[in-house]
Amino acid sequence: MCGIFGIVTKETRQLGPTLIEAGRRLSYRGYDSVGCATIDSQGIIDLRKDVGKIDDVANRLSFQEMSGKRGMLQLRWATFGEPSQVNSQPHLDSEGGMVGAHNGNVVNNVELRQQFIAEGMTVRSTNDGESCVHAVERYVKQGMDMVTAIRHADGDLQGDYAFVIGKAGEDRLYAFKKGSGLVAGLAEDATIISSDLPSVLPLTRKIIRIEDGEIVVFWANGLELRRVSDGSLVERQPEIIQESMEVAQKGGYAHFMEKEIHEEPKVAEELLHLLENSEDVEPMLERMRSARNLYFVGCGTSYNACMMGSVYLSRLAGRVAIPVLAPQFIAQFAPALGPEDVGVFVSQSGETKDVLNAVAVAKEKGAAIFSLVNVIGSTLTKVSEYHLPMGCGYEISVPATKTFTNQVITFLYLALRMGGHDTTILKELPELMEETLKTALPQVETIEKRLMPWDSLYCLGYGLSYPIALEGALKIKEITYAHCEGMLSTEFKHGPLAAVTDGYPVIFTVNPENIPLILSGINEISCRGGWAIAIGEDDPRLHANAHDVITVPHTTPEIVSLLTVLPLQLLSYRLSLVRGFNPDFPRNLSKTLTVD
Ligand code: G6P
Repeated sequence: MCGIFGIVTKETRQLGPTLIEAGRRLSYRGYDSVGCATIDSQGIIDLRKDVGKIDDVANRLSFQEMSGKRGMLQLRWATFGEPSQVNSQPHLDSEGGMVGAHNGNVVNNVELRQQFIAEGMTVRSTNDGESCVHAVERYVKQGMDMVTAIRHADGDLQGDYAFVIGKAGEDRLYAFKKGSGLVAGLAEDATIISSDLPSVLPLTRKIIRIEDGEIVVFWANGLELRRVSDGSLVERQPEIIQESMEVAQKGGYAHFMEKEIHEEPKVAEELLHLLENSEDVEPMLERMRSARNLYFVGCGTSYNACMMGSVYLSRLAGRVAIPVLAPQFIAQFAPALGPEDVGVFVSQSGETKDVLNAVAVAKEKGAAIFSLVNVIGSTLTKVSEYHLPMGCGYEISVPATKTFTNQVITFLYLALRMGGHDTTILKELPELMEETLKTALPQVETIEKRLMPWDSLYCLGYGLSYPIALEGALKIKEITYAHCEGMLSTEFKHGPLAAVTDGYPVIFTVNPENIPLILSGINEISCRGGWAIAIGEDDPRLHANAHDVITVPHTTPEIVSLLTVLPLQLLSYRLSLVRGFNPDFPRNLSKTLTVD
């Protein structure tokens, strides 16, 4: 997802290195183009931008040497306009006296561009970030000051976005937030604005979170916040962030994904501690028990965790929860929602637009809003009546791993508690996860090269292992670019079986309860020349029937299924490497999707 960063410093200085570092720290969000602009004391704007990764573009265009008192950087994830030099951000206004960049989507971009052209403005790209600049330019040309111009521009720009903008001949920059994340940092010698914290924390720990509908005017010594509605001042005290930044380093691992997979046992242990000490669990459970309808809502990996949560709740607490993808929740369930219903919204980032849209609808209907969120202080935490933290720290790589396992563990914990079961069984989890990671890797390595040439495969599961199969398939799709479909194992014979040819790979996630059923599935495939790979407990029946078996430790059926996702995460990681890709930043994808 796009990311913006802006800085105003006391002295003129080489801003290039700061902007490059900010770009690296925003890059986990996913992007295809990079750009920087600086404005020097003579009001000269130096704008450099292109398609590519931050270090490549910075080298090619010598970002390092860019200097001034004001600077901005943008990473672009294409939505409006193909990834190209001209569509990269920041953008200039018609005369080249203003420069700005945005994050998010301006949905009436096409209409606005036509209006700007008709009004005689110079429109250079098809990107909606440029529309933000011209929307401000439109009112500056009428003689308005920047804050008033931004207030008027807000009336023209439809969508959810945040932007930063600066004008030659001034000593300040401006930013505006409407829907997309924005945080300000107050350093000794500079003021900073950014889409998120990791790019601010190396410069200062004193931060102010910007809220929707607020304009930030920032200069070297500070900032003021104004409401876009009436221009009035907003008072907000800065907060001091204590989190360590060490987490944003790879810590000796080749990739963030590898590091984050290996952190799973440790973050699971921390999560269990958080849950045991949480005062929110009991009131949440109380409301969930008495809810008329209970929904688990998320997108992508978080949705797969919702499915797992629903299976757990039914098995362990005899309570039905409907797992649903956030946009479908709106379309299918909103008409029937009421104040007696409860929605548990699950999101690593807490900023996924599809999820926030669903929350807004649920709120409107009076339903209770609970959430499981990793990023504390994110929008989802703020709009929830209760939220349980995932306790994972930063997850940098685009494919979610440790946040998935902690989401699933949270659901397992809630289901055990709701069903009146003892939760001490979960204490074994970190050790079992550790053991799984140790034993799975060499087993994964025996199949990764054979899997490498396949551009199509399936990942099947049943019952407790069905959501795991979906998650395994999503991981493989995201970072190996092979088409991997996740499916209920019993459905495979109803059509997809036609895909099986000699050596065609089908992975089975196996729960010990369903081995006879899975054995039928395996044999349907192997008797047609397909390649059956099983991931489950060490069971002689699997060894006798599947071609390859990856084993996980023996434990309860609920925990076995959770453990089987670890070999799948490792497999997708290794497969991504042998196929020649960077698993941390897969093409076209973004860690946090703040657009519809
Ligand atoms: C994006 C990411 C996925 C993620 C999904 C939901 O699509 O690429 O990896 O699962 O968003 O993200 P959330 O932050 O809401 O869990």
